[in-house]
Amino acid sequence: MSPFLLTRTLPADATDAALRADVLSGLTQHPKTLPPKWFYDARGSELFEEITRLAEYYPTRAEREILVARSGEIAAASGARTLIELGSGSSEKTRHLLDALPDLHTYVPVDVSESALAGAARALLAERPGLSVHALVADFTHALELPESPGPRLVVFLGGTLGNLLPEERADFLRSVRARLAPGDGLLLGTDLVKDEGTLVAAYDDAAGVTAAFNKNVLAVVNRELGADFPPGDFGHVALWDPDHEWIEMRLRARRALTVKIRELDLVVQFEEGEDLRTEISAKFREESVRGELSAAGLRLDQWWTDAAGRFALSLATVD
Ligand code: AVJ
Repeated sequence: MSPFLLTRTLPADATDAALRADVLSGLTQHPKTLPPKWFYDARGSELFEEITRLAEYYPTRAEREILVARSGEIAAASGARTLIELGSGSSEKTRHLLDALPDLHTYVPVDVSESALAGAARALLAERPGLSVHALVADFTHALELPESPGPRLVVFLGGTLGNLLPEERADFLRSVRARLAPGDGLLLGTDLVKDEGTLVAAYDDAAGVTAAFNKNVLAVVNRELGADFPPGDFGHVALWDPDHEWIEMRLRARRALTVKIRELDLVVQFEEGEDLRTEISAKFREESVRGELSAAGLRLDQWWTDAAGRFALSLATVD
């Protein structure tokens, strides 16, 4: 029998408390915001998987292309015996890396979705019966209590999810990763790159409307979890490129004036016609911006790989 452990650092009521706090602060500020992590209930995770298969959404394919081409180099450079994956989801892309690390001792997938973790661990253990898998149900933006395991450690943060954090949050996050690394450990980071506006906007506003459904799903989450009465049909999906911040913003725009009740918070929120609720930023990077942010956190960018079309990058960084 393979060792499989699942640790919940997020009790169900902690998730609930975090959602309440985020909804209360986000909907009472101007402009209104909600953090993107609340997209990912079972339905939202399914919709995101569907997004990754859309013609317009290139990041997943571009990142997979790099992993397929470079897993051998990444494995050799890191020599990892423990692989910690933040926001592991289905762990599908990581398979290439795991396959290139035959001497890996422990895999630590970390995700807020317990169902995604359990499914991924089951599939992985069927193929790698000797591997020790210690799944963590956790929010990777918070301090992580990592299990005892042999080094070198490689922390893997793929998908471009770093871009969902605001610059100050990214700085905190990278510093907290750095604090968990010892000399000889590494960070493998996936970042989407700045490119022409048309390509970027299409990736977040696909013709089939899957991203629009994904965006509106956050309203269904708040309706169900907090007894709110958001009418999803009264919001339009907006994706826009902010050239100053170099990020995509997803918003939900009220099609008419609305009054929304959030029963469990005893909160009533008014939307004017045309008012936006920001649901996500997805920052796009350049090699120099990644190098600078890593360096500010005490990490040195050692290797930079892009897909052939130069759309997406993987960085390998080590403790400076
Ligand atoms: C999973 C955070 C990388 O920002 O591109 C996809 C999420 N949002 N379409 C991204 C997302 C809209 C995605 N990440």
